Amino acid sequence: MHHLAADHNQPTRTTDITTDTQTAPGSLIRSLSAGTMEGPYSARFPSSSIGEKSRRATAGREAADERSTRCHGPHRRERGARHPRRASGHHDFEGPQMAGDAEFKHLPVMVGEITRLFEPVPAGVVIDATLGGGGHARALLAAHPHVRVLGIDQDDAALAAASSLIDDFPGRVTLVRSRFDRLDEVADEYVGEHAADAPISGVLFDLGVSSPQLDQPDRGFSYRHDAPLDMRMDRSASLTAAEVVNTYDVADLAVVLRDFGDERFATRIARAIVAARPVTTTGELAELVRDAIPAPARRRGGHPAKRTFQAVRIEVNRELAILPATLDRAIDLLVPGGRIAVLSYHSGEDRIVKGRLRQAETGGCVCPPGLPCVCGAEPTVRLLKRGGWTPSPAELMDNPRSESARLRAAERLSVPGSVVS
Ligand SMILES: C[S@@+](CC[C@H](N)C(=O)[O-])C[C@H]1O[C@@H](n2cnc3c(N)ncnc32)[C@H](O)[C@@H]1O
Repeated sequence: MHHLAADHNQPTRTTDITTDTQTAPGSLIRSLSAGTMEGPYSARFPSSSIGEKSRRATAGREAADERSTRCHGPHRRERGARHPRRASGHHDFEGPQMAGDAEFKHLPVMVGEITRLFEPVPAGVVIDATLGGGGHARALLAAHPHVRVLGIDQDDAALAAASSLIDDFPGRVTLVRSRFDRLDEVADEYVGEHAADAPISGVLFDLGVSSPQLDQPDRGFSYRHDAPLDMRMDRSASLTAAEVVNTYDVADLAVVLRDFGDERFATRIARAIVAARPVTTTGELAELVRDAIPAPARRRGGHPAKRTFQAVRIEVNRELAILPATLDRAIDLLVPGGRIAVLSYHSGEDRIVKGRLRQAETGGCVCPPGLPCVCGAEPTVRLLKRGGWTPSPAELMDNPRSESARLRAAERLSVPGSVVS
């Protein structure tokens, strides 16, 4: 095993795992030639066995049916051409950028519920696909000696903040910089070789932005600070909020605001933005959104620019576009009894999560409700709680940012259509 200590003063030149992959000829391990991050956070899991499988008997399938949902928004229009990163080869990763970053403080949401959800999973690797400051990962590692964590984040500041996990839980943590739609390649590269000893027994998604991303003015995410419009979680990516705001036409901007922000006044705001160009700072954008909204509506639903900022951020980071396929893939990766848990923070995210878990739960069954399934659909998970969980009143008091959170979770079945016992 190679366990590389984090050294924030030692910039490393590595390549970004968000780029193309290739299979190394003759190699048993599929290699990400452009992507393995051999930088300060990376350590493959040791090949030693990690102990007996602990699998608990699980409760029976929940009875009630759940209305299937339509996932809308991100699929309406693919804007690939506006994302040069998808077309353009590699992005060099210049190493951690903690210098000048404020301290990374993020309170993990529903951490008790998440820790309990992963208790019964088989011994193996839990992929934390949205590592952030590592709050959830730390809790899982501390509570469950039978799991290791493969932590993924596309934000170098998050990886730097979470890198203490490597020393705090020796041999049990691997951190990789990647966007989570590369889940497959990351899992292959860092777990594949040891999959027999370390199966993937959990995947966690805590979607959206972290508090430090919102709170650090220079990241350009927030209407509360005046800063250059940026909003990139991955600071090596090309598309910025400034580009979205200054180059999309009125129709495209209105679609973004409506689909990703549920903004009633999308077209008015889009027209105001186009008329005011160039718009270069978060302060300018917040002000012109406020002025574009009718006065009575400004007083409802929080800051008038909240929905616009959310929508532009989602567009910049392609947050919803990549989510459905990533969730499907995460479910596929799980061993029987393994669990997926997803925390979402707005209706667009939750619709997708609910829809993909529902799809896995029914196997896409198209038979009339109440009649036996004859269409050959094969369910692959059981939902752990229909409707999911929301934060407790106590958590809402401690962490108001958890307010919109909804946690949904499911367990992988042993054979499609059966229940793990
Ligand atoms: C809400 S925070 C996670 C906080 C974390 N659970 C903790 O306890 O500290 C979300 C994190 O996911 C990362 N993220 C969001 N979308 C991502 C994606 N598509 N790929 C990789 N990382 C992503 C963000 O950069 C951010 O650090």
